[in-house]
Amino acid sequence: MTEPTMQKDKEDERHDKGDERSESTARRRLSRRSILRMSALGVTAGVVGFGGGRLTAAGAELPDWTAADIPPQNGRRVIVTGANGYPRDGRSGLGYHQALALAVAGADVTIASRNKERGDEAVRRIQAAAPGASVRFETLDLADLSSISAFATRMQAAGDRLDLLINSAGVMGRATREVSIDGFERVFATNTLGPFVLSARLRPLLQNGSSPRIVWMSSSRGHAGGINFDDLQKETGYDYARAYDDSKLGDLLLAMECERRSKASGWRLTSIAAHPGVARTSIVLDGPGLDSSEGFRWRYIPMLWQDPAQGALPLLYAATSPQATGGGYYGPKGLGTTRGLPGVAILPENARDPRLAATYWETLERLGDVSFR
Ligand SMILES: NC(=O)c1ccc[n+]([C@@H]2O[C@H](COP(=O)([O-])OP(=O)(O)OC[C@H]3O[C@@H](n4cnc5c(N)ncnc54)[C@H](OP(=O)(O)O)[C@@H]3O)[C@@H](O)[C@H]2O)c1
Repeated sequence: MTEPTMQKDKEDERHDKGDERSESTARRRLSRRSILRMSALGVTAGVVGFGGGRLTAAGAELPDWTAADIPPQNGRRVIVTGANGYPRDGRSGLGYHQALALAVAGADVTIASRNKERGDEAVRRIQAAAPGASVRFETLDLADLSSISAFATRMQAAGDRLDLLINSAGVMGRATREVSIDGFERVFATNTLGPFVLSARLRPLLQNGSSPRIVWMSSSRGHAGGINFDDLQKETGYDYARAYDDSKLGDLLLAMECERRSKASGWRLTSIAAHPGVARTSIVLDGPGLDSSEGFRWRYIPMLWQDPAQGALPLLYAATSPQATGGGYYGPKGLGTTRGLPGVAILPENARDPRLAATYWETLERLGDVSFR
């Protein structure tokens, strides 16, 4: 172990003493350190960090499932966030492929993200691929609470129900810490707080939906995440990878807690999580960039990055399959869950902790000034 690492570990240990919230931090840091040490390639924590056997075995119980197995979606009103990443420069966004597949299956699709020009082009391409498809773009910035509120108001004005919300949009952190317009750390704001607030604001519409579902986009890197309530905004010792991993654990906590609360309160809302494995999208280039370790792998190990259309399948399974279960978690079943057709993914231990999830949920309700009630 190098000197700075030892010192950091000691700092972590000191920090970890104390209340029960810090216990979760300790678990996270231990697991993250162990994972990173084990991670020879370190494509994502999921590739080599968790023991290929355990994760490869996950999902074996699902029969092969592709976009051709999506049941007819006619009449279903759907929102997919982050769906404007149409194919360009050898990569495309996962949300785009989800929106395309759902439109092909007959759903009425709203794609929601920041860049309108790319959104309009995504709509044009989907309509060209699926003539007659009902698809439109709406501007939404998940890192801006007022934008979420305005989007939800427009959605309410446009119709009285919503059947499916796919919280797909997300970012990786950049080398230095950035904050949202509301003062939240940018990765937390975009990946976790934003989708949570959006889901809360759209819940009245989902309540009127037919078999309504929310699907939350996580990552195999959620296994390396942890929740430090003392520094949710990463004000001390910002690390882009930690910001991302924590946000993706956060998504899993929210997905599981949403399912629990829905059952307990009779919301009739099914909440499911999924991850795409490792896919050739813009997330690294728009995030930590080519000089990061992820950028190195992007440049020099291109075969690690699967086709985003395939990466979109676990979310599509979670969103449409009658066999997908509330509180379930789905991801690719091949090569240490980094690629392939959908299977059942293993939930990180922290994501199974209902007390942690409840505290996280209530914290986000406070920060986002929303309530699911
Ligand atoms: N690619 C992978 O290997 C991988 C692995 C695990 C998990 N994931 C997850 O998959 C999801 C999709 O990522 P991707 O890989 O498809 O990346 P991507 O190609 O970079 O797409 C990200 C999408 O999110 C949108 N977005 C970013 N910031 C936003 C904001 N503030 N408000 C609304 N929309 C925003 C972007 O559109 P605008 O810029 O126009 O807003 C874009 O459409 C993310 O949640 C990511 O964490 C990806």
